[in-house]
Amino acid sequence: SSPFICGVLRKMTEAELYSVYKGVYLPTHLHPPESLKYCEEFTFRPDDILIVTYPKSGTTWMQEVVPLIVSEGDLTPVLTVPNWDRVPWLEEHRAILLNLEQRPSPRIFATHFHHHMMNESYFKTKPRVLYVMRNPKDVFTSSYHYYGMASYLVKPGTQDEFMEKFLDGNVMFGSWFDHVKGWINAEEKDSILHIFYEEMIADLKGSVEKIAKFLGKSLSQDVMEKIADHCVFKNMKQNKMSNFSLVPNEFMDQKKSEFMRKGIAGDWKNHFTEAQEQRFNAVYKEKTKDVKFKFMWD
Ligand code: A3P
Repeated sequence: SSPFICGVLRKMTEAELYSVYKGVYLPTHLHPPESLKYCEEFTFRPDDILIVTYPKSGTTWMQEVVPLIVSEGDLTPVLTVPNWDRVPWLEEHRAILLNLEQRPSPRIFATHFHHHMMNESYFKTKPRVLYVMRNPKDVFTSSYHYYGMASYLVKPGTQDEFMEKFLDGNVMFGSWFDHVKGWINAEEKDSILHIFYEEMIADLKGSVEKIAKFLGKSLSQDVMEKIADHCVFKNMKQNKMSNFSLVPNEFMDQKKSEFMRKGIAGDWKNHFTEAQEQRFNAVYKEKTKDVKFKFMWD
């Protein structure tokens, strides 16, 4: 069976592609009702590690970095297990099939849920969270390409049209602004490490060190060097367990746009018109005016 979908990719009308869950759009193919129920009932352990992101902010990258920190640089998990089984998304249907209850600690999961969407067990147990943020303009540009190649998402339309949808949160997993605000204002501050995609671009080894410290792992300089070297874009792009080349074409058409597309900070500058930049800035300013947190891209 395909790594992403149980059975056949059912043809859906545009209206069927998304379902509304707790106020945000979720792609129906990946998150059928039984997955959401599973997620609501999921029991966390205090030593679970949760990679939390708004889509296109560096999830896949962290699905490579964190297992390598846990394995202390042993490449076996990242070279033999596809990223979606290595670090499963709790809200995706595959989670049900993976026997997560039996996995040894520390388990590593991913989620795109907003803070308010987390279940009761999360708030009670407070597992460790790595929250990765990326400049929303780059999230937009990455998303625009991704929506154009992933058949389970509503087609993006023109860049102008997609920008209005993105800024209004009428895209999968809703508003970037709400997502980030929820997770930076979370009360359980001690169990959350906030990281920027841009900081990983600027100094990957330093980021590995920071994440390892947060997870209570002490790694040698050589091991951190090895992890950073494996996870740098051009190397990680070659890993077929992580570059989504195992996903069938009819689900992700990487001839249109590769999943591991560019992997840089600031690519939005190559895509925005001046009018689009102004429009984005105006909405950004309005929607972040109550934010005290210092974003790396500001
Ligand atoms: P681009 O489309 O800008 O290239 P996610 O995994 O959250 O869906 O995010 C995907 C984005 O992260 C893509 O951005 C992808 O190229 C980028 N990415 C994945 N692995 C990376 C790496 N090792 N280094 C830098 N960027 C990476």
